[in-house]
Amino acid sequence: MIYKNIQSMKTNKLSLGVVGGGPKSWIGHVHRISARFDDKYEIVAGVFSRNAKLSKNFGKSLGISKDRCYSNYVEMANEESKRKDGIKVVSIMTPPSSHQIIAQKFIEKNVHIISDKPFAGNLEQAKKLYKKIKANKKIKYALTHNYSAYPMVREAKKLVEKGKIGKIDYVNVEYIQDWSGGTKINKKNAKRKLKWKIDNKIVGASAVLNEIGSHAYHLASYISGLKGQAVFADIKQISKKIKMDDNAQVMINFDNGVKGMFWTSVMAKGGVYGLRIRVFGSKGSLEWVQNDPNYLKLNPEKGAVKLLERGFHNAEFSKQFSRIKFGHPEGYLDAFANIYKEFADSLKNKTKKRYFYPNEDEGLETAKFINACKISSRTKKWVKI
Ligand SMILES: NC(=O)c1ccc[n+]([C@@H]2O[C@H](COP(=O)([O-])OP(=O)(O)OC[C@H]3O[C@@H](n4cnc5c(N)ncnc54)[C@H](O)[C@@H]3O)[C@@H](O)[C@H]2O)c1
Repeated sequence: MIYKNIQSMKTNKLSLGVVGGGPKSWIGHVHRISARFDDKYEIVAGVFSRNAKLSKNFGKSLGISKDRCYSNYVEMANEESKRKDGIKVVSIMTPPSSHQIIAQKFIEKNVHIISDKPFAGNLEQAKKLYKKIKANKKIKYALTHNYSAYPMVREAKKLVEKGKIGKIDYVNVEYIQDWSGGTKINKKNAKRKLKWKIDNKIVGASAVLNEIGSHAYHLASYISGLKGQAVFADIKQISKKIKMDDNAQVMINFDNGVKGMFWTSVMAKGGVYGLRIRVFGSKGSLEWVQNDPNYLKLNPEKGAVKLLERGFHNAEFSKQFSRIKFGHPEGYLDAFANIYKEFADSLKNKTKKRYFYPNEDEGLETAKFINACKISSRTKKWVKI
């Protein structure tokens, strides 16, 4: 009897479909956890792989009913739109060059989108996708530039907005990783080690810039509130034989004459201490490092450095985005889940409440930045974004 009541109870959760993130995808697992974190979504449908059999088996193993484990995303979009209880939101976590085409299909069916970065594989795709999103007033779009959802990144954004570090002069950001796995990448092992990341048709405009540089650029714009105006970039490839971009150093001229320095690399040996941002203003500076995410350094023009702690009384704004009490560590999954949580809230809230999750505007800006870096590196000139 009790069971029957529960069954008939109408859930308030948003029904979610998933595209990508199959058995071996780490980020697929992160998305699914994030969707469940705050009980705001229920994963009811999915296509997890290009291999239909693998996809269906994986879907069933997650507890999705057999008839909603699909062979491909087109079938899923078409079938779900025929159902009364069809998905309201779709999460996309496939490789970069497929983001646009998959998102478009669901936008046509009035399904809200949560997509992993980059916004699209290249600028051309990004512009098409942007247009499609803006043309459909029934849907909303969120982009999982998840680093911007850390409580202390949001605190930093707020401090900049409040003028706590004065007028911004310089932004310095780096995101480095080491994809070598401790071995030398050569023609023989490149495909096995780097998979689709060496295929420009799949990874899009640039492996290093699309995969991690996009996060760094987004973070710089997000905290500073500035858009890049022009870049001078130097992009390197692994070797003449392996034409995958693995390193990019970029000078960025932001709005208001603000100068930016940007470095991203996926072949920085031992580079595990990866994402760091410093923003310098006329009254002081801010520093945040992802591996120590609960702290934000506020270095005033004069006097001692202040260490602000997530959820503590010296970081009021961060409380809104914290789940665990100060003094205890909170991290990657919590931040990722903030995007899911805010997006769910925004879909139900009809007021003009301000949300902090990244959207299509930021996605297009990042695609423009990457495109300008590619042209600048090729022509050895400053290029307008
Ligand atoms: N936000 C982050 O911190 C973060 C971290 C890692 C990866 N990512 C992004 O996630 C995306 C996927 O990266 P990954 O490392 O998980 O790749 P992956 O190759 O490990 O996984 C991709 C998954 O998508 C599936 N897939 C591919 N095309 C598909 C299609 N058309 N339909 C259904 N399933 C399909 C594959 O079978 C695979 O299971 C990329 O855009 C990447 O940049 C983001």
